[in-house]
Amino acid sequence: MNGTGTIAERQEEIQKLKKESRTLLLAHYYQRAEIQEVADEVGDSLALAKSAKESEAPRILLAGVHFMAETAKILAPEKEVILPDTEAGCSLADACPPDPFQRFIEQHPDHEVVSYVNCSAEVKAMSDRICTSSNAKQVIQSIPPDRPIIFAPDKNLGRYLMEVTGREMLLWDGVCSVHEAFSMERIMKLMGRYPGAQLLAHPESEEAVLKLAHHIGSTSSMLRYVRESNKKRFIVATEWGILHKMNKQAPDKELIPAPSHADNSCACSECAFMKVNTLEKVEQALEEGKPRIELSEEIRIPAYRALMQMFPNQEKNVA
Ligand code: 13P
Ligand code: SF4
Repeated sequence: MNGTGTIAERQEEIQKLKKESRTLLLAHYYQRAEIQEVADEVGDSLALAKSAKESEAPRILLAGVHFMAETAKILAPEKEVILPDTEAGCSLADACPPDPFQRFIEQHPDHEVVSYVNCSAEVKAMSDRICTSSNAKQVIQSIPPDRPIIFAPDKNLGRYLMEVTGREMLLWDGVCSVHEAFSMERIMKLMGRYPGAQLLAHPESEEAVLKLAHHIGSTSSMLRYVRESNKKRFIVATEWGILHKMNKQAPDKELIPAPSHADNSCACSECAFMKVNTLEKVEQALEEGKPRIELSEEIRIPAYRALMQMFPNQEKNVA
């Protein structure tokens, strides 16, 4: 389709292309609403990884960021994995380059290396275990208490995990530029204006925001909290794309995006990497079957072993 198609026309074309090419379209909650609407599944990092691994589709289009598409390829090497735009990176993954991280690990050889899934395939390959925001607490708790731990790349999530598990960890100094950008001053003002409002925060947020939050959790856990809560008003401290699904799942609730320092028009937090993907690029990627994610087995196999620690009861064949 040329550049003039309407959103509805493009969505129709995407449905057709998906069917013809037997492509499973997986989208993260931070994707644009019009992309979420054509996805076969919308989920958090853990759910998308599971679906990529378990699906029978020969091709996966990952509408999310690069590390999510890489994770899909690591877990399902026999499938073609495409990402609409390879510029869809992640500030956390960028904060942990493989060479310095390798040197850091070598300085602490007795440590178990746990990496948050928001990292490159190379960093995953250097790690003993991977976690997502949905299972991080359980992953840390599954490590024998006398084993010292390195946690990378997110120091905010790491600090939060130290608090909830009581485990000391050596933290890599990385942050998510989106979750670091919330303005405490503006959040406090909002809470003053709406005294009954519940503050929900992703654990990538700074300590001060987490201290104030009524609920801390992954994107899927925030959605569950809003659905199940009898409260009516929520201040949501994560990327604003999640509001699309939240509104659909809880139309009677009032959702207020937590304000960031930035003076942007919506006064909310946007992940520019996630928003690089557009409906037009999704359509083009489906048509052309690219950009494709390729990984050497040298990286993929150790990364697979580390990722599979998240699925303790499953067959660990590396093929
Ligand atoms: P979730 O796994 O909670 O969806 O988080 C992904 C992410 O990139 C948060 O910034
Ligand atoms: Fe990465 Fe932060 Fe964007 Fe999530 S919100 S993809 S952690 S930059």
